[in-house]
Amino acid sequence: MYAVTGATGELGRLAVAALAKKTSPDQIVAIVRSADKAADVLPEGVEIRIADYDQPATLAPALDGVTHLLLISSNDLQSRQRQHRDVIEAAKSAGVAFIAYTSILKADTSPIGLAETHRDTEAAIRESGISHAMLRNSWYFENYLAGLPTTLEHGVMIGAAGDGRISAATRADYAEAAATVLANGETGVFELGGDTSFTMSELAAEISRQTGRDIPYKDMSESAYADALQQAGLPAPVASMLADGDAGIAKGALHDDSKTLSRLIGRPTTPYSTSIAEGLRTS
Ligand SMILES: NC(=O)c1ccc[n+]([C@@H]2O[C@H](COP(=O)([O-])OP(=O)(O)OC[C@H]3O[C@@H](n4cnc5c(N)ncnc54)[C@H](OP(=O)(O)O)[C@@H]3O)[C@@H](O)[C@H]2O)c1
Repeated sequence: MYAVTGATGELGRLAVAALAKKTSPDQIVAIVRSADKAADVLPEGVEIRIADYDQPATLAPALDGVTHLLLISSNDLQSRQRQHRDVIEAAKSAGVAFIAYTSILKADTSPIGLAETHRDTEAAIRESGISHAMLRNSWYFENYLAGLPTTLEHGVMIGAAGDGRISAATRADYAEAAATVLANGETGVFELGGDTSFTMSELAAEISRQTGRDIPYKDMSESAYADALQQAGLPAPVASMLADGDAGIAKGALHDDSKTLSRLIGRPTTPYSTSIAEGLRTS
């Protein structure tokens, strides 16, 4: 029996759908907080179990009979270290044999602040003695699509990533890889990113090419970028986190040319030009 946490999230629902194709819906447990949301976004035939990372007593029962668990990292950045440790503890007591965890690229050495909790969770998984796979994802390309309307409005793309290369890939590609690793019970550390990396200048050039406009990339210091994001309305902690991510990119933290992601999914990753075209079509 396979289980996916965060199954109603953007990545989780794609992972459940990919896993259902590789196995069958009746072998999948979706661990969710809301049954209503699950009914809207998950395939029929998947078993829905309710659990909350913040209610540890709900976790082990939700994992009853589960052999293979995909632990999707929580979006609660303040609490997720404890939340993940509670899930791992519950997995151990429920007799889960294999855990795949969605970590961050080069988690062990990454200078990005977000990597700290991923390092802690990876350590907890190793300490648990459960067979495991670390799915060390680079950025989702969708992060850049979220900023596309603002870029188009202002006619400039801003950031603090310098000439750092970014191996972003779509959530759908990461989800398919996660489903493959889970279905095969393939252990190891997987550094995952898109086949074709880009710098922010190259990204701006591709957006310019596809829109027929001149949209340059303006590089800033980390603090100036954080200020600009705050002025644009983002809360200070989010602005700092994004600027810190860009500073990490400038140091190569999100670049991976191993092509492990395309090997896992058995096809080239979705080119970023395709994702931009889709983003422009729908924005
Ligand atoms: N690599 C990247 O670029 C990148 C970007 C963004 C996020 N991430 C990480 O990747 C994860 C998955 O991404 P995503 O896009 O799928 O994020 P998402 O849509 O925000 O999904 C997060 C999932 O976590 C669940 N969750 C949050 N708190 C929970 C709790 N207390 N108990 C149980 N479930 C809880 C949410 O449940 P509900 O559906 O009930 O809200 C949701 O299903 C994120 O959580 C974050 O750690 C990575």
